[in-house]
Amino acid sequence: MDILLTGATGYIGSAVRAALAAAGHTVTALVRSDEAADRVAAAGVQPVIGDMVDAELVRGLAGKSDGVIHTASPGDATSAEAEAAFADAVLAGINDGVFVRTGGVWVHGSGVALTEETPRNAPPIVAWREEIDRRVLAASGVRAVLIEPGVVYGHGGGIPRLVAGARQAGGALTLIGDGTQHWATVHVDDLAELYVAAFERAGHGEVFLGVGGAGPTGGVGGAGPTGGVGGAGPTGGVGGAGPTGGVGGAGPTGGVGGAGPTGGVGGAGPTGGVGGAGPTGGVGGANPTTRELGEAASLRLGLGGRVVPEDPAATVERLGEFGRALLLDQQADGGKARRMLGWRPSRPSLLEEIAAGGYDL
Ligand SMILES: NC(=O)c1ccc[n+]([C@@H]2O[C@H](COP(=O)([O-])OP(=O)(O)OC[C@H]3O[C@@H](n4cnc5c(N)ncnc54)[C@H](OP(=O)(O)O)[C@@H]3O)[C@@H](O)[C@H]2O)c1
Repeated sequence: MDILLTGATGYIGSAVRAALAAAGHTVTALVRSDEAADRVAAAGVQPVIGDMVDAELVRGLAGKSDGVIHTASPGDATSAEAEAAFADAVLAGINDGVFVRTGGVWVHGSGVALTEETPRNAPPIVAWREEIDRRVLAASGVRAVLIEPGVVYGHGGGIPRLVAGARQAGGALTLIGDGTQHWATVHVDDLAELYVAAFERAGHGEVFLGVGGAGPTGGVGGAGPTGGVGGAGPTGGVGGAGPTGGVGGAGPTGGVGGAGPTGGVGGAGPTGGVGGAGPTGGVGGANPTTRELGEAASLRLGLGGRVVPEDPAATVERLGEFGRALLLDQQADGGKARRMLGWRPSRPSLLEEIAAGGYDL
């Protein structure tokens, strides 16, 4: 297939470019500079220099392609307008082709077992996405698909750099927020394979969370009042049974959620982990807490795993609306993509990447 890719110089888009090539697709990349054009051309991609808000250019390129994979975004106050203009231009030109767009799990707000069906409760920084997402998914004359990635990690990139790069005070690493919130995460190379699978096989109007949870045999939710989330190992994980439910693990053999009063979280080690049975449960998995991430980074920095919480209000003051989104407490899995698309996330967890030095800055 001949695919128009945006964001090919970006974190997600460069991994998608590589995954498309590995799957045998031909890629035309919309880039913004001669230097970027040279770079993607060296990677075997046909560059076109232009901007995603150039409606005429985008409409023409979309019409000539078999479909569009859109990962570009200005990532600032102009994002809403630019994304709306881009979507309109693609829909005008696409001619029954495929349109895979990028959203984000943040739009669903906090939750212990988020799915694609979880009603939207977006923090202000991404609230603008809803209108565009709805419009594209309901459009006719196109096979439109939305991917909602969690916090993307891998190759030392993305938001997790903020964890290891945080302020050090009194021999301890400052956490993002108080450390209790979970981040739903995905490895950038696993995510890239999800884009390819969605482009090739997803039906019109489908939404997929891009979160590295839920094993190939599926995970089993927990039995607590709020339910649990299955794990990410090849044999799947089993959610816990504590009062707040447990979360299955992320190891290659899968993890087992815990049974403690607050539920447990399956482990992330190479042989899989077993969620804790103590009062606060165990740790690990595809949905780590920011405390777990901070402690792992603190160890790498020679700070002995010492961390200090940050008052959430100070996080928002420091990082603005982006900081407010980082305070969301999100646990999710990629079960739908596994079931419907055969997606098989296989890379190490974020905790494993940090522990192995992947985020030594
Ligand atoms: N990273 C995450 O953890 C994460 C999680 C969930 C959702 N997302 C979403 O995924 C998307 C991509 O994120 P990312 O982390 O890959 O971002 P990124 O690394 O900043 O990449 C953004 C890409 O967009 C391109 N771009 C920006 N403005 C453009 C314009 N006006 N015309 C054409 N291209 C333009 C950039 O090109 P230049 O190289 O020319 O700047 C770059 O290739 C965003 O919508 C983001 O909100 C990201």
